[in-house]
Amino acid sequence: MIYETVLTEIRGRVGIVTLNRPQAMNALDHRLLNELMDALNAFDQNDAVGAMVITGGEKIFAAGADIKEMAEKTPQQMMNGDPLAVFDKLRALGKPVIAAVSGWALGGGCELALSCDMIVASESARFGLPEVTIGVIPGAGGTQRLPRAVGKALAMEMIINDRRLTAQEALQHGLVNRVVPVSDYLNEALELAEDIASRAPLAVRAAKRMINASYESLLADGLAEERRAFYRLFETEDRKEGMTAFVEKRKPEWKGK
Ligand code: CAA
Repeated sequence: MIYETVLTEIRGRVGIVTLNRPQAMNALDHRLLNELMDALNAFDQNDAVGAMVITGGEKIFAAGADIKEMAEKTPQQMMNGDPLAVFDKLRALGKPVIAAVSGWALGGGCELALSCDMIVASESARFGLPEVTIGVIPGAGGTQRLPRAVGKALAMEMIINDRRLTAQEALQHGLVNRVVPVSDYLNEALELAEDIASRAPLAVRAAKRMINASYESLLADGLAEERRAFYRLFETEDRKEGMTAFVEKRKPEWKGK
C-alpha cells in the first residue's frame, strides 16, 4: 500500500506513524484512518518493532474526523462505511502504542490519543472534544474513555461544554503520562517506546492487554483473566530467562518466546 496521508519510519526498535494532512489540520478522513491502521498493523507484525508512536508534528496532532467528508452524509452512508470501526482495530494491536501530541488533539484526534496506551504531550498540546458544537457526539470512544481517564465531572464539562485542556491540565487530571518542551516531545516519546521495546515482549503484550481489559470488563472477570495471563507467562522462555537473570545478577536476553 502506498501511503498518501501518513509517513512511516522505523527508528531503532520503534515504528513511527506521522499523520500528514497539514492542509486539513490532519483531519482523519477515510483514507488517513485506513492508512494509519495499515501502517500500525504492519509494525505490529514486524519482529524488528517493539513499540509504536503516532504523532502529527509540532503544530497539530489532529483536528478530528474530517467534517467536510462527513457533512453531506446520510445516517445510512455513515453506518455502511463505518469509518470509525478502525478504532476497534487500534484497540486490538498487541504492541504498545504511544501518542506523541503537540498542538491540538480535537474530537477524533483526541479520541485517537485516548485509544493509545500512553500519551506524551508537548507544552503546546491542547485536548478537547467539541463534537457537540457541530451537532454530534464523540463517536470514536470519547464518551467511554474520557470519563475513565479524567473522571465523570470533567468529562461531562469537556464533552457537553467544549471545555478544552492545556497540557498541564491534562497531566494534572491523569490524561497524559508526561509534558515536555515542544522541542523534546517526539524524542521523549521515542525514548519511552524504546524502553518498552527493550522489555520482555510477551510480558509487555500481556500487561497492555490486561490493563486495557480493566477498562472494559467487570472487576471480577478482569481479575480472573489477569491471573490466567500471569500463569500463562510461565510457559514462556522469557519468563525463565528473566527470573534466572535476576538470580544470576545479569541482564536478561529477551527472545519473545
Ligand atoms: N475536518 C475537515 N477540515 C478541517 C478540520 C476537520 N476536522 N479541521 C480543520 N480543517 C480545515 C479547515 O476547514 C481549513 O481548511 P481551508 O483552508 O480549506 O479553509 C484548514 O483545515 C485549516 O483550518 P483552520 O483555518 O480552521 O485553522 P485554525 O488554525 O484557525 O484552527 C482548529 C485550527 C482549532 C483545529 C480548527 O480548524 C477546528 O476547530 N477544527 C475542527 C475541530 C472539530 O470540530 N473537530 C471535531 C470533528 S468531529 C469528530 O471528530 C467526530 C468523532 O468523534 C470521530
